[in-house]
Amino acid sequence: MNFETQLKSFIKEIDENLNIYLENYIEKNILDVVKYSVNAGGKRFRPLLLLLTIDAFGKEYKDGLSFALALEFIHTYSLIHDDLPAMDNDDLRRGIPTCHIKFGEANAILAGDALLNVAFEIMTYYIKNNFEKKYIDAMSEIARASGSCGMIGGQVADIYAEENEITEQELLYIHENKTGKIIIASIIAGAIISDATKEQIIKLKDIGYKLGIAFQIKDDILDIIGNEKDLGKPILSDVKNNKTTYVSINGLQKAQRDYENLSTEVLLGLKELNFENKLIYKYIEKIITREK
Ligand code: IPE
Ligand code: IPE
Ligand code: MG
Ligand code: MG
Ligand code: MG
Repeated sequence: MNFETQLKSFIKEIDENLNIYLENYIEKNILDVVKYSVNAGGKRFRPLLLLLTIDAFGKEYKDGLSFALALEFIHTYSLIHDDLPAMDNDDLRRGIPTCHIKFGEANAILAGDALLNVAFEIMTYYIKNNFEKKYIDAMSEIARASGSCGMIGGQVADIYAEENEITEQELLYIHENKTGKIIIASIIAGAIISDATKEQIIKLKDIGYKLGIAFQIKDDILDIIGNEKDLGKPILSDVKNNKTTYVSINGLQKAQRDYENLSTEVLLGLKELNFENKLIYKYIEKIITREK
């Protein structure tokens, strides 16, 4: 199987299982709302990172499936809430009207909450049936990265920065937390499940940090030079909201240069772990060079 076929089969498995779990865990009265946002598409970047990390260690990726699905549920909840009028107030996501435009704000808030809970139900269900400490460690990485010491803390600071001047260091805090921490946790949870050594985990944390910052820099760049049709979300949303972004602080050229440098370091780090011939290397290369 070539790379694209293998990648497609991972995505297919993720998509099918996302829906199996939703059908089984979500109450009927909010199921349509939740499915609307989960099934709208998306790159499935975080679940793929987790599964491909396990694959890179030569382990059975199915051991990580529940954790991978949980990450996508948490990520989708964060997008639903990010788009709300009280936050970024956007009306397009993954190529279709945002959840609150389609179902109203109350349902969008509740669908996000339901997704966060189902993520933890899935992980605890898996751990109950496959009891090993490493699975609890993987779940706690995901919990911390999604909470106020991670994604939520980053979102709080992101909203604060709409009304207040911030330094470049503070912007890096935002990028690391709102976006980076869950990306790091995706990789580290995969590494923990694969019984990676302490040294490998330290290296992967550094790679994940750089990948997370790079990913948000690219998102900031695409907000300016991308197009709505390819991205499936509005461009110039950051400008509309007076956000401080990597581009607003550093300009487009420096943002692009720093993005390329970070990307090079990510690929170098993966080579040092001897992942050069693994799917994860090709996948990250593909994500890095994406234009949408
Ligand atoms: C968008 O994430 C939000 C950010 C953290 C930049 P993605 O770019 O991964 O969005 P989807 O999942 O593909 O829709
Ligand atoms: C969002 O960052 C990060 C999240 C935690 C959802 P953005 O607000 O820049 O993401 P987009 O551009 O709306 O996808
Ligand atoms: Mg936002
Ligand atoms: Mg947004
Ligand atoms: Mg953005």
